[in-house]
Parts: sequence; structure tokens; C-alpha cells
Amino acid sequence: MRGALKIGLVAAAVLSLVCALLFARMLRYGLSAHDEPTTIEATIASRMRRWAVPADLREVTNPVPLTPEVLEKAKAHFADHCASCHGNDGKGQTAIGKHLYPKAPDMAAAKTQALSDGELFATIENGIRLTGMPGWGDGTAESAYGSWTLVHLIRHIPKITADEVAEMERMNPVSPSEMEERQSEEKFLEGADEKAGAHATHAK
Ligand code: HEC
Repeated sequence: MRGALKIGLVAAAVLSLVCALLFARMLRYGLSAHDEPTTIEATIASRMRRWAVPADLREVTNPVPLTPEVLEKAKAHFADHCASCHGNDGKGQTAIGKHLYPKAPDMAAAKTQALSDGELFATIENGIRLTGMPGWGDGTAESAYGSWTLVHLIRHIPKITADEVAEMERMNPVSPSEMEERQSEEKFLEGADEKAGAHATHAK
């Protein structure tokens, strides 16, 4: 009994020391979202995430059959809702994705691809607490269907082509000022076309 008490006290002392050191480090250097999460944080977070996916869902394989139409729909959906953080190519190299804590991962990498279909689905539907990853599901069959199509897209990301990425870029949301810029560019180009046309007729 006395032995157990001693071990308990030593463990509590070590834990307090670690907390004090971490706190002192925070006071000295501050906390920044630019930092990379430490190995301990990353390990605890990925364990917790695994446990947070119900065991029967973890084993489920994608129930939505993969067709070219399904993939096209998923690309449009991803370009519209996910690319702001994850990038159209899923590599997370966007202004937001790179500066979150934790950062948006490279989905082509083994770490994401090793997750089961059910884990990817649960992540999309429920999000990841205390991170930038929102939960997109609303409990309806439509949202579940959409999330399963996105699972197909995530499986496609390691082999996505530059043409596909360019096609998705055109489906990214644009701000009103960007929209105005695009329209005036189009008008300018149309004007240039007309002028070129006029020159061509003149030259005849
Ligand atoms: C506001 C930024 C943001 C948006 C928008 C966003 N995500 Fe995320 N997502 C993240 C971050 C950050 C992580 C990493 C969280 C972590 O490390 O625990 C993440 C993680 C994920 C993961 C887990 C990958 C892995 O390797 O663990 C999946 C899957 C995912 N997102 C899919 C999506 C899909 C699909 C959409 C669109 C419907 C989306 N995300 C929209 C920020 C975002």
C-alpha cells in the first residue's frame, strides 16, 4: 500500500514538472499556429480520432459504386467546399491549409490513404474537434451520399492529373471582386477579338 502511494506521488510530481516546463515554454515563446504539432500531440490526436469512429463504421467499405459521373460530382463538390483548405490537388498547400494548427494534410500521402473508407467518411461527416476540419454531415441520406462520393475523390487524389486540377480551379468559389476582375478581363478580351477581327477585314 505504501509502495503504491509512493509511486503515485512520484508520478504526480513528474507530471507537475512536465506541465510546469510546458507552461514556462509557452510564457517564453508564446503559442503560434505556425508551429508543427509535437509528436506527442499528433500521436494522442490520431489515437483519439480512431477511437471516435464507431467500430462497425470503421470496417465499412464505400457503398456508393464508383462511376465517372460520381467522380465528376465529387470533384465539383470538393472544389466548392474543401479546396479552400485542402487545395484542388488535396495537398493542403493553400493560404488557409498551410497556416492552420494542425495543418491540412497531404491527402495523397500514405497517412491519409491508410485510413479505411469508413474512417474517411466519419471524418467528413463529423469533422475533427479542435482543428480547422468542419463536420459536413447533417444526418440526411443526401449528405451521407455526398460524403461517400468524396471518399472516392480522396482515393483518386494520388493519381489526379494537372488537367483535372485545372478543371476544378474553374469551380472554386470566387469573391465578388475576383468575379468583377474576371468579367472585365473577358470584356477586354472580347474587345481585343473584335479589333483583331476588324484588322483582318481591313487587311483583305
Ligand atoms: C477550413 C479548413 C478546412 C476545410 C474547408 C475542409 N477541411 Fe478537411 N481538414 C482540415 C484540417 C486542418 C485537417 C487536419 C486535421 C488534423 O490534423 O487532425 C483536415 C482533415 C481532413 C481529413 C482527414 C485526413 C487525414 O489524413 O487525417 C479528411 C478526409 C478531410 N479533411 C476531408 C475534407 C473534405 C472532404 C472537405 C470538404 C467537404 C474538407 N475536408 C474541408 C481543414 C479543412
